[in-house]
Amino acid sequence: MGEHARTYERSLADPDGFWLRAAELIDWVDSPSRALDDTNAPFYKWFPDGRLNTCANALDRHVDNGLGERTALIWDSAMVPAKKTFTYRELRDEVARVAGALTTLGVGKGDRVIVYMPMIPEAVMTMLACARIGAVHSVVFGGFAPKELAARIEDARPTVVVAASCGLEPTRVVAYQPILDEALAMSGHQPDHTLMLQRETLRADLGRGYLDWDDVVPGAKPVEPVPVSATDPLYILYTSGTTGKPKGVLRDNGGHAVALAWSMGAVYDIHAGDVFWTVSDVGWVVGHSYIVYAPLLVGATTVVYEGKPVGTPDAGALWRIVQEYGVKTIFTAPTAIRAIKKVDPKAAELAKYDVGSLASLFLAGERLDPETYQWASAALGVPVTDHWWQTETGWPIAANPRGLEPMPTKPGSATVPVPGWDVRVVDAEGRRLEPGQEGEIVIRLPLPPGALQTLWEDDERFVDSYLSRYSGHYHTGDSGYFDEDGYLFVMGRTDDVINVAGHRLSTGAIEAALATHPAVAECAVIGIPDSLKGSVPFGLVVLKAGAAPDHDELRAELIAAVRRDVGPVAAFREAAIVPALPKTRSGKILRRTMRGIADGRDESVPPTIEDASVLDALVPILRDRTLEEPRQHTSR
Ligand code: COA
Ligand code: AMP
Repeated sequence: MGEHARTYERSLADPDGFWLRAAELIDWVDSPSRALDDTNAPFYKWFPDGRLNTCANALDRHVDNGLGERTALIWDSAMVPAKKTFTYRELRDEVARVAGALTTLGVGKGDRVIVYMPMIPEAVMTMLACARIGAVHSVVFGGFAPKELAARIEDARPTVVVAASCGLEPTRVVAYQPILDEALAMSGHQPDHTLMLQRETLRADLGRGYLDWDDVVPGAKPVEPVPVSATDPLYILYTSGTTGKPKGVLRDNGGHAVALAWSMGAVYDIHAGDVFWTVSDVGWVVGHSYIVYAPLLVGATTVVYEGKPVGTPDAGALWRIVQEYGVKTIFTAPTAIRAIKKVDPKAAELAKYDVGSLASLFLAGERLDPETYQWASAALGVPVTDHWWQTETGWPIAANPRGLEPMPTKPGSATVPVPGWDVRVVDAEGRRLEPGQEGEIVIRLPLPPGALQTLWEDDERFVDSYLSRYSGHYHTGDSGYFDEDGYLFVMGRTDDVINVAGHRLSTGAIEAALATHPAVAECAVIGIPDSLKGSVPFGLVVLKAGAAPDHDELRAELIAAVRRDVGPVAAFREAAIVPALPKTRSGKILRRTMRGIADGRDESVPPTIEDASVLDALVPILRDRTLEEPRQHTSR
């Protein structure tokens, strides 16, 4: 039995002992006497009597251990352009001041802080400052529309919103203040204060109740870390569900710190002093876990990159940074590699740099297609690791556990379940399937430390969304299968969540935006394959009786509606006018069947279909995906 199999078995046979040992990776104010508390199952708690501070573990303890002069954070903006590094001591001092500023603004333990900032060091500092004082941060990705930001403000009810004046995209400067103003105007909740960091590229007009970061933070009195219970919340991160209303994934302090610290060694083989670079955004879970918390918890150096893998300025951007900072491991989404491959198929840019420090590439966020895997492996000559996880899980469920035991790779597979995750593939009735048989991927409870505790102020939705379908199991929403060797192949979502360039989106939210168009009677959105972004949303709209809009205008208006209500990140560009939508007799739109047809699969027609001819009429449109002439106008 190999190291992975042994560790995996131990983690499931004795979770308490296993995670209590892993908890030694963390400095506790009060060490936990036990790991798992199942008294309130399925609301499991980890390290119930432990007390700690996550920020102290990420910063102070390294300074106290004599590593204060080690680089903690490298900021590299290809957009400004600019570069800056912070030692552990410098980062601790900055964070302590931000924490002091937040305290002065009335933020205390348990209060929420919305962080609406691009990829700048101050975003990381604000997150850590919240952790320092026991406040709960909720970071909102810059590519969302005001309505999405408003939904998060309303749900989290922050005491303070911390924002920056702009984000920098290759095609434009994104002014954050108008977006925030609009969001606040829509929200039923108003924060006590809004703190704005002014960026020189575009300064905000602070005459309307905003506080200037420079007036508040530099002079603030640094504060010490506040001990919190391991089970106290660290952050809320909203993610797309099947409805338009985002789900507020709630993460604790203790389980999160233990799981992330453990994963850095076991999965990523990253240790104190290594340089680890996650090419993502702090607005996503990948950014929370592997830009901010995990690298700092283990005393590594994290790279915070503002830019894209291509076009800022070229397809050598990643390789320049590897050379410049001696990056050991890159973690990004397959779409980033596809973007590089498209622009630089022969990897000519790569040849210009010395990337000898690079030991491995990790990819997640969407399925890693074997072609991209092969290209990256050949170009880089280092192990390329596909691994699978979700906002909810917080860290990898399946991976090639490089730090425990590197295993042979099978392209198309995320390799094996990571210790702690009891992964099963089941049929619709919850029966375990044989190797090779595809079904729903579920995880037997309890989930390991680091996984979501519940949804913010919505235990009922937590149970309904994840735990009610298969008793005693967490329903991942992904389908897949195990092969004979126990390798897991993740095939895709079984619900209405889509992944666009590694960004998770709800088709329901896009549909809601399309439905606001006055000519639209009803609509459906599905994810269709895209050679760069993995998948992109495709809208099928049924027009109201009598509506006969110009198609180009309609398309432009639909695109504008999605940008307005969901945001540019939805990358909504394609729609077709269709006579009717295929439905079951109970009225459920057959999105999954349409998705399969668009994917080029031979989908069997569900026996419950109301009218099979409706689906037949859509086959050429789904295969061809062009804005069709309406054959008839249907009002429903
Ligand atoms: N703030 C504001 N707007 C943003 C944004 C942000 N933080 N991030 C993206 N957008 C906008 C983009 O400017 C673009 O707008 P446009 O339609 O006006 O051009 C739109 O949202 C779509 O963005 P994106 O999907 O990122 O496409 P892109 O063409 O700009 O870049 C990639 C494509 C593949 C290079 C890019 O998606 C990428 O690097 N992805 C991989 C890494 C990653 O972040 N993964 C996420 C989770 S691991
Ligand atoms: P997010 O919550 O944004 O991290 O998105 C999670 C979803 O992304 C998962 O449920 C999967 O559908 C998809 N995903 C993430 N990683 C992988 C992977 N390695 N292979 C296949 N799908 C993945």
